[in-house]
Amino acid sequence: MLRRLHPDQPASFAFTPANQDWAEAQISKYPEGRQASAIIPLLWRAQEQEGWLTRPAIEHIADMLDMAHIRALEVATFYFMFQLQPVGSVAHIQVCGTLSCMICGAEDLVAVCKDKIAKRAHQLSADGQFSWEEVECLGACANAPMAQIGKDYYEDLTADKLAQIIDDLAAGKVPVPGPQNGRFASEPKDNLTTLTEFTGEEHNGSVALALALKDTVKRIDGTEVPLITPWRGKPPAARKDANKVEPKPGIGEVIDETGTTTDEAPAKSTAKPVASGKEAPEGRKPETLAQAKGTADDLQKIGGVGPVLEQKLNKLGVYHYWQIAAWSEDEIAWVDDQLNFRGRITRDDWISQATALADATTDKG
Ligand code: FES
Repeated sequence: MLRRLHPDQPASFAFTPANQDWAEAQISKYPEGRQASAIIPLLWRAQEQEGWLTRPAIEHIADMLDMAHIRALEVATFYFMFQLQPVGSVAHIQVCGTLSCMICGAEDLVAVCKDKIAKRAHQLSADGQFSWEEVECLGACANAPMAQIGKDYYEDLTADKLAQIIDDLAAGKVPVPGPQNGRFASEPKDNLTTLTEFTGEEHNGSVALALALKDTVKRIDGTEVPLITPWRGKPPAARKDANKVEPKPGIGEVIDETGTTTDEAPAKSTAKPVASGKEAPEGRKPETLAQAKGTADDLQKIGGVGPVLEQKLNKLGVYHYWQIAAWSEDEIAWVDDQLNFRGRITRDDWISQATALADATTDKG
């Protein structure tokens, strides 16, 4: 199936403050230089917030993770769980159409969706409140046919039950998820032969939790559950995880008692660390420029350099391929240190890429 971005896109995207905090916490779980690993949780949270994944959201997240936009677009367009078009403002209904559900009546459920929502999957209902799609097995085959609505599973469905659930959602109610035929979970409907002693609870664990959270179809703004990130706000050395990175001064931060900043630091700073315990940057500062010589090169042509990294490089005084092509190992270590992306320059082989781009530019000139 061809998955394209929707032709109508909003102008911009921003996480809610609580979701922004959540996103930063996710990023902080990964070791230095591996922040891109947070791409899926961040895209997912953007979708939970907006209902669907917009182009500005994908690009915003790519920038947060210092990824090229195309890399984030590849992820978003690959996974079917990401909705690339607007979904119903109240609910998006995902009807399982795989074997067990199909032989137990999935086609009747699809017919209800076509009748009550829209003729085609991914089309919005006339009032914009609902949309639907057919999906592959959702792993609840023993409770077929079923549908996922928002976060929850509605199982043992019939056409009438699904129609009622849609009506209830339209009326602002949150229907009780789980089996809709009186079953507790996925036990036989009658004649239990094993596990016959019921605990007496009204709902199984998933349904009870869904009812407690009450966020079945709610857009997630980050205020729902407290964010548990005990490692945040502590110096990296105090963290118990494997990512033992010493604190480094950021670009432009003062690193010694003379007021020298990281970007002004000489090749091998002899300055003592300031009382805060910060160290001088590693390696040796390469040749940098106060401004570009003529037109700056498009550094984003180097694989691994996105808009954010290009900005940081420019801020350091790096504008041209030839500058990067000339970096020694010491100088790579210094730039790595400044960019806070240890090992990235070597991993993506910026030097060979920049050399080839510099040569191509010279040939054209
Ligand atoms: S076939 Fe529908 S949940 Fe598995």
